[in-house]
Amino acid sequence: MCGIVGYVGKQKASPFILEGLKRLEYRGYDSTGVAILQGGAFSLVKKTGRVANLEREVAKFNLNGTFGIGHTRWATHGGVTDANAHPHVSSDGKIALIHNGVIENYSSMKKFLVSKGYTFSSETDTEVLCNLIAYHYAKEPEVVGENRFFASVRKTLLHAEGTYGIVTMCVDLPGEMVAARKGSPLILGLGDGENIVASDVSAIVARTQNVVYLKDGEIVRLTPKEFQITTLDQEAVSPFVDKVTWSIADAELGAHAHFMEKEIFEQPLALENSMRGRFSEDSSTANFGGLNLTASELRQVDRFMFCACGTAWHACLVTEHLIERFARLPVEVDYASEFRYRNSPLDRNTLFFVMSQSGETIDTLAALREAQRKGYRVLAINNVVGSTIAREANGGIYQHVGPEIGVASTKAFTSQILLGAMLALYIARLRDMSFSDGVTYVNALKGAPDLVREALKQAPHIKAIAKRFAHHSDFLFLGRLSLFPLALEGALKLKEISYIHAEGYPAAEMKHGPIALISEKCPSVFFAPKGEIFNKVVSSMQEIKARKGPVIAIITEGCELPPGLADEVITIPDCHEAVLPIVAAIPVQLLSYYIAVDRGCDVDKPRNLAKSVTVE
Ligand code: F6R
Repeated sequence: MCGIVGYVGKQKASPFILEGLKRLEYRGYDSTGVAILQGGAFSLVKKTGRVANLEREVAKFNLNGTFGIGHTRWATHGGVTDANAHPHVSSDGKIALIHNGVIENYSSMKKFLVSKGYTFSSETDTEVLCNLIAYHYAKEPEVVGENRFFASVRKTLLHAEGTYGIVTMCVDLPGEMVAARKGSPLILGLGDGENIVASDVSAIVARTQNVVYLKDGEIVRLTPKEFQITTLDQEAVSPFVDKVTWSIADAELGAHAHFMEKEIFEQPLALENSMRGRFSEDSSTANFGGLNLTASELRQVDRFMFCACGTAWHACLVTEHLIERFARLPVEVDYASEFRYRNSPLDRNTLFFVMSQSGETIDTLAALREAQRKGYRVLAINNVVGSTIAREANGGIYQHVGPEIGVASTKAFTSQILLGAMLALYIARLRDMSFSDGVTYVNALKGAPDLVREALKQAPHIKAIAKRFAHHSDFLFLGRLSLFPLALEGALKLKEISYIHAEGYPAAEMKHGPIALISEKCPSVFFAPKGEIFNKVVSSMQEIKARKGPVIAIITEGCELPPGLADEVITIPDCHEAVLPIVAAIPVQLLSYYIAVDRGCDVDKPRNLAKSVTVE
């Protein structure tokens, strides 16, 4: 939600900031803006729409300054207008500010500032924060040991309720920036004679791989050559300088038309990276050192709780199925946004997990904190190294799939399922699973990347199916057992990127309501893998067909459908139960991708969405 970049250095700031905003655009893309400090004033350019619009606008100005800030917005307070775009400049022209988050007490602050003569040109909470800094800056005498600007930012933030990642500049202090965070990510990039602050590393790695992840409640003063971090309560912080392990090429499109396409086709490699080094030497179980739990501690666990949002929540549902099936332990899965307010009773021996690609989803973070507050150890399955969830969890498993930039999650989803399957194996092997069943399971998981490669070969066939059905406005996705969450995921993928109404249901549940939707205008996508429920799913297909509903059947190799039952058939490799949900994800990802492309949708930046949801 909103991407921010600040640059203090020796080179022209605007090209670097624009480049950074392009990389952060997946975080929000309603409107964009830059402010460059030059010639004793802020040069401000703001525009609704994408960074490309801003770039055209910026080209009309002579922005030569080497200090600046830029923002790409996902609107919270105030509509999508040039005026509401960031950066905001205080009404006295002294302070410029970019902000990611929500200031909850902004209206009382605004009332106060209006009474002091400050004026506002936008409807945003951010402009209020900016003017409050200006107010303190104008009013306060120099504070000993702190410069006046830094002191005024600190003072303002002590009054601010809500969440923020901010970067701000003062017109009187060229070459200096102040940034702070509470609830919204901020990362410092430490360059050679230049420093950067941004919402995520993708805006930084072009210049440096040395980064510092700011923590909540920290504030930093940056110049081209140095930075000092303290807490808002003025405690000194010794920074830990981390090294980013991926390079700029990982965040580029290459030969692909969209990041979503790139990330779908990257999945064999992503799965290899997720599992690398995580099987025991005898290939009979998984190893997860990062859980920070001994085998005997894990044996005390008699129940699991998983919390997540969206696609990650679907991966939790698959994990639930696999842990219950193979480790024979009960699992509960909850939406993080519900759990945080539900005050759910938890058993003493429950082990709590959160799953989050970004590690910044505010509801998932709140669920983690709520569980920790209740005294639980919380473990995280997470992709973004150094993210807030990764840092606040008591241990966990990194996904290692590299940056996921397409707003619709694909490679992170299959990696989460893989890690859930490995976790199920790990727990099962501590309990009742035999050595030889463990070896069979491990071999199956090791084969997952090749099976996904095989499934990806169906792309041209799925593209043709997508063309045939792209004009429909309702879809059902139906699956059972571990593929019921895949039905939910298929429906979510389709609706989020192509704006087609779609619902996911357990296949047999369809006759308890959704069947009323069925007509020749509403296709149903069925998962019908080989196994005990194949015939049951075929019966559900018959019920749809009897009502003239088109059927798209995803079957595994070796299955035979009655002639004429399915309008289209997609065949995926037959595989072990633990791998099936991973392989089954491929056709629904491709189907939604090609339908969205056919309908001319902006696949990587669907309307109203943003990659990491850092507001409630
Ligand atoms: C859908 C999608 C979202 C995310 C959800 C959680 O394609 O990407 O539903 O899965 O916002 O995000 P993370 O995993 O970053 O917590």
